[in-house]
Amino acid sequence: MNKDIDTIQSEAAEAINRAKTSEEVEAIRVRYLGRKEGLLNNVLKSLKDLPLEEKRRIGPLAQQARKEIEEAIDFKLKSLVEFEIPEEDITLPGKRSETGHLHPLTKTENEILRIFTSLNFSVIDGPELESEYYNFDVLNIPADHPAREMWDTFWIKQDKKPKNSKDHYLLRTHTSPMQVRYMETHEPPFQIIVPGRTFRYEALDASHEANFSQVEGLMVGKDVSFANFKFVIEQFLKSFFKGKKIEFRFRSSYFPFVEPGVEVDIKFKNSKWLEVMGAGMVHPRVFEFAGYNPRDWQGFAFGCGIERLAMIKYNIPDIRMFYNGDLRFIKQF
Ligand code: PHE
Repeated sequence: MNKDIDTIQSEAAEAINRAKTSEEVEAIRVRYLGRKEGLLNNVLKSLKDLPLEEKRRIGPLAQQARKEIEEAIDFKLKSLVEFEIPEEDITLPGKRSETGHLHPLTKTENEILRIFTSLNFSVIDGPELESEYYNFDVLNIPADHPAREMWDTFWIKQDKKPKNSKDHYLLRTHTSPMQVRYMETHEPPFQIIVPGRTFRYEALDASHEANFSQVEGLMVGKDVSFANFKFVIEQFLKSFFKGKKIEFRFRSSYFPFVEPGVEVDIKFKNSKWLEVMGAGMVHPRVFEFAGYNPRDWQGFAFGCGIERLAMIKYNIPDIRMFYNGDLRFIKQF
């Protein structure tokens, strides 16, 4: 009887060792420990015919064997779970991991910068928190000038009353303040562009945002002319809308810091004209504020709305879509 138990136990151990799947292990459990026909149980059942002394001796041995086989089975099952390879259809397409990409506005800005740098313009950065002086005064828009109404302004609350317009802050309403800021510290000839965010305290609609982006352009030299401006802008528009036929027009307009002034419109969705740019020849007063002699220098300036160009290029019907964070929109680019 002793020997039977030993053999059963070592056979079981060997079988467990060889088993490769959890089903095989389960079969071993039934074969050795099963209630009805399990080998170990059969031994225990046969105990009832033995003398009492034998029962007392064999009983615990059988219990011990059962415990050890159970432990071996549990141990094996644990080690199998980790290594069993699930059946998988290897012909199924893989799971795509999502990668981010640039916002359509960033893409548009990058494209604009690429074109102007290829035309030898340098890219300059400027502050979003600006002074009344650079945003208005030096652009020939003094405090009482009615043209200030063209730019509804977010003024900054200041604890102390500003001493003068250099000390009076606002969120820049356009990128033009960088014109004089740059000229104060640089000598012509030069050509620069200044991309950046601008802010206007405005009623929102499909083509107006309180927060939008512009690119300012400024080219100054001995004989930079309006013809040069037209050439540069036409090169830019052709390159920006490459492959897409667009209609654009120069329409005369007024800004206090240019003379003459124009606006550039592009036909949007084959029907209405959308204003994308204000421009003109730099006003002599602006050169004076910058410390240049207006008899020595001339040049052109333009300020161009980045969202509007993106709207035309990608057929986006509403400027508010750029900032509302709707992923269904962003993911299309
Ligand atoms: N700063 C003007 C605007 O935002 C655009 C402009 C720039 C016009 C440069 C003329 C010259 O409305």
